[in-house]
Amino acid sequence: MVKFHEVVRVQVPAKINLALAVGPRRVDGFHDLTSVFQAVSVYDELTAVARTDGQIILTMSGLGSTQLPTDEQNLAVRAALLLRERRGRPEMGANLTIDKAIPIAGGMAGGSGDAAAALLGCNEIWDLELSVDELRELGTEIGSDVPFAILGGNAVGTGRGEKLTPLSADGELNWVFALAEEGLSTPQVYRSFDQLAEAGELTPDVHLDAGSLEALTSGDVNRCAAALRNDLCAAAVALRPALAATLAVSAEGVLASVLCGSGPTVAFLCTDEQSANLLAEKLPEHEGIRDAIPARGPVVGPSVVRSVVAG
Ligand code: C5P
Repeated sequence: MVKFHEVVRVQVPAKINLALAVGPRRVDGFHDLTSVFQAVSVYDELTAVARTDGQIILTMSGLGSTQLPTDEQNLAVRAALLLRERRGRPEMGANLTIDKAIPIAGGMAGGSGDAAAALLGCNEIWDLELSVDELRELGTEIGSDVPFAILGGNAVGTGRGEKLTPLSADGELNWVFALAEEGLSTPQVYRSFDQLAEAGELTPDVHLDAGSLEALTSGDVNRCAAALRNDLCAAAVALRPALAATLAVSAEGVLASVLCGSGPTVAFLCTDEQSANLLAEKLPEHEGIRDAIPARGPVVGPSVVRSVVAG
């Protein structure tokens, strides 16, 4: 007799920061931020199938996946464990697979995206019926970027980046992401930021003026390019001086470059899709750039598809 089981597939987009204004270090070690998030068309895909023996087993494939742990150090496993703990259902298990396209330790919320996908996927296969708001709240405990990974589109994040106000934005932006040979650790970049602040080489400033916010969401690509901002840039360059050369790459149809989150991925904003495709072909010729991915933004948040398969 043919057996059937349910599979849930979640596609989760990467994020970039059109602006990242960083305040001083708080007593809890985090930094207050004003972050203008945009979800972009680079996706990790998670599948989830329920198990009844309480085991959570993760298998990974795709970009850089062999570098990642598959035990509870992995944010997706942490998210699944947290979800079932809060529901008091330790017997629930899952087979999770993640196919990665979002760069690892690249500043594009790949780990947070996987955690978001695990929360959404396990909520479905375990029939928990938590609302998206409840999942976002839970996501905050895993990482500052998880709530936005669940939301998608464009949003302003305050607090440590987890308090979100969705933004409507006109127009589509064409990006190219330059992937570095090696990732950067987010806590290390923030430490480098603190050191530069202590040395008086930068002044933490969480304020983002209304004019910049308006320009970033105006749909006018030239005004958006002029308003891009990332306060972690100097800190990331201090740790990885080669990034300065990547940020300085210019080509026809390229309006501006900006660091993604805590780096080291660099985003180039292009006038149109054709310029973006041309730049993506050329970028890997530059030293220190491993690969380049064209993409567009904003895109909607994760898609969750539930299906029944034989086997
Ligand atoms: O929240 P998340 O796990 O992404 O944060 C990773 C690290 O980045 C934190 O432990 C902290 O060192 C730093 N961070 C910060 N301020 C934020 C977000 C992250 O200092 N708003």
